[in-house]
Amino acid sequence: MGNVFVFDHPLIQHKLTHIRDKNTGTKEFRELVDEVAMLMAFEITRDLPLQETEVETPVTKAKAKVLAGKKIGLVPILRAGLGMVDGMRKLIPAAKVGHVGLYRDPETLKPVEYYIKLPSDIEERELIVIDPMLATGGSANDAIHSLKKRGAKHIRLMCLIAAPEGVELVQKEHPDVDIYLAALDEKLDERGYIVPGLGDAGDRLFGTK
Ligand code: PRP
Ligand code: URA
Repeated sequence: MGNVFVFDHPLIQHKLTHIRDKNTGTKEFRELVDEVAMLMAFEITRDLPLQETEVETPVTKAKAKVLAGKKIGLVPILRAGLGMVDGMRKLIPAAKVGHVGLYRDPETLKPVEYYIKLPSDIEERELIVIDPMLATGGSANDAIHSLKKRGAKHIRLMCLIAAPEGVELVQKEHPDVDIYLAALDEKLDERGYIVPGLGDAGDRLFGTK
């Protein structure tokens, strides 16, 4: 079964509280999501492999380390996942970005895929699927299935907030996928919203509704 990591860094937790606050407006919400995504990118890349190199400083030659060139791909789930892309790319600028377009049917809560565009070499990349919300898990589950169908071999899932139901579904369907979160909340309400959550991530990011 995949692991679940909750990033408890104080800056992430502090900013997440402001993201949750219903009085936080669109501009600040977007900026905070961007900042938290950047901090989460820092945490999720902790295990990237390094290799030895040599550097000439103004003083002397020295042995040093650089990233071993593992290829990363970011896959935001449209539309709310887009809010986390720029923050992550500030730390991982060489990452390629694929997009999976899914929306959750408000009646059935089932995801409907309407768009997919991925880097051509996804099978070689460590893919990080990103979406602020993991609620029923339907969207992330479908996105991961879509990626695997197209050859993806190494997938992680990164969300701001998850409900236990979503975590359980992804763990059951994709035991090879680790999940990285800023918070694991209590439950879903009858409309499939995460409680306490942050409301509708897409609407709050883009000022719709
Ligand atoms: C939200 C969110 C996730 C999904 C989570 O997207 O961004 O993609 O719901 O719910 P689930 O785990 O129950 O599938 P939404 O469908 O509202 O689309 P949007 O991003 O375009 O607003
Ligand atoms: N999608 C959201 O944007 N928020 C939730 O709480 C659940 C699904």
